[in-house]
Amino acid sequence: MKEKTTILAIESSCDETAAAVVVNGRDVRSNVIFSQIDLHKLYGGVVPEIASRKHIEKINQVIEEALETAGETLDTIDAVCVTYGPGLVGALLVGVAEAKAIAYAKKKPLVGVHHIEGHICANYIEHPDLEPPFMCLVASGGHSHLVKVLDYGEYEIVGRTRDDAAGEAFDKVARAIGLGYPGGPKIDKLSKEGDPKAIKFPRAKVEGAENDFSFSGLKSAVLNYLNNCQMKGIPVNRADVAASFQEAVVDVLSEHTVRAALEHGMDKVAIAGGVASNQSLRKIMQERCKKNNLEFYYPSPIYCTDNAAMIGAAGYYEYKKGVRHGLDLNAIPNLKIGQR
Ligand code: KG4
Ligand code: ZN
Repeated sequence: MKEKTTILAIESSCDETAAAVVVNGRDVRSNVIFSQIDLHKLYGGVVPEIASRKHIEKINQVIEEALETAGETLDTIDAVCVTYGPGLVGALLVGVAEAKAIAYAKKKPLVGVHHIEGHICANYIEHPDLEPPFMCLVASGGHSHLVKVLDYGEYEIVGRTRDDAAGEAFDKVARAIGLGYPGGPKIDKLSKEGDPKAIKFPRAKVEGAENDFSFSGLKSAVLNYLNNCQMKGIPVNRADVAASFQEAVVDVLSEHTVRAALEHGMDKVAIAGGVASNQSLRKIMQERCKKNNLEFYYPSPIYCTDNAAMIGAAGYYEYKKGVRHGLDLNAIPNLKIGQR
């Protein structure tokens, strides 16, 4: 294999239309993201049909910009990598169809990438020293998983949510206190003005599966608290609600991650996904990892939320292993980790 492998990566699984050029999995030459958040926030969440249409409108533009910034063309890249699941089927199909068209027209290898594996590999971009094995918490709008990264492209799920994803809980609680969509960054900001000890919200445990998560009870507890205040005519301190809710989520996420890492004999821990950009989570994880002699890794916020650079990172290791997809590659909305 050539020493320099240049990958064009495409991501369109949800509400970000993104393209990136990544060399050898860790060197990001361009990372273009068109966020559709402004369109969807009118509706309080992602509207799948609108997302697909916007992806179609924007995808060529983001790819052109990514290539131009990196000083590459469709002829000079070595392979095209694309997210093919999990995600919204109509949204995924736009990226997959585009990648297949490029692969066919330019006779380039095509590699389908798992979105969550992409989130995990975002950690490689800024940490040249990070190598498997390590324990990774993946917390996003659609997923909350504890993943043991055994090797490049080899994963084992050792914990998962039984109901809501962590990001989903952030979004729902933010909506309930009138903060709008997406809720995570807004709760992160508002909680700095609140007291995390003001309200005692529950930390759910799953019987017999101590590494699993459950956030729906916490979400209900926040809604009950708000209803109670309303009925009794007590004014709600939104910053205290935000800070107390956030502390409950961060406490559970960090406790489970550190425990799973120690249980599985890992000495390195990483976090990934949109919720990994939460400042309180980063701080508490740092403290708990230090206390337990675990090396802690986290991506910059731009590589936590959806982007194509992470798909280029994950795709490179797949490409290197010889993974190639045919032009029959399809979008798989419920693609499992490790499924090829
Ligand atoms: O990874 P991502 O961009 O998309 C999915 O794959 O789901 O994650 C988006 C999720 C949203 O639920 C958003 O509210 C949450 O990540 N999020 C945050 C923060 N930034 C984004 N949650 C907590 N704190 C943040 N700073
Ligand atoms: Zn994501």
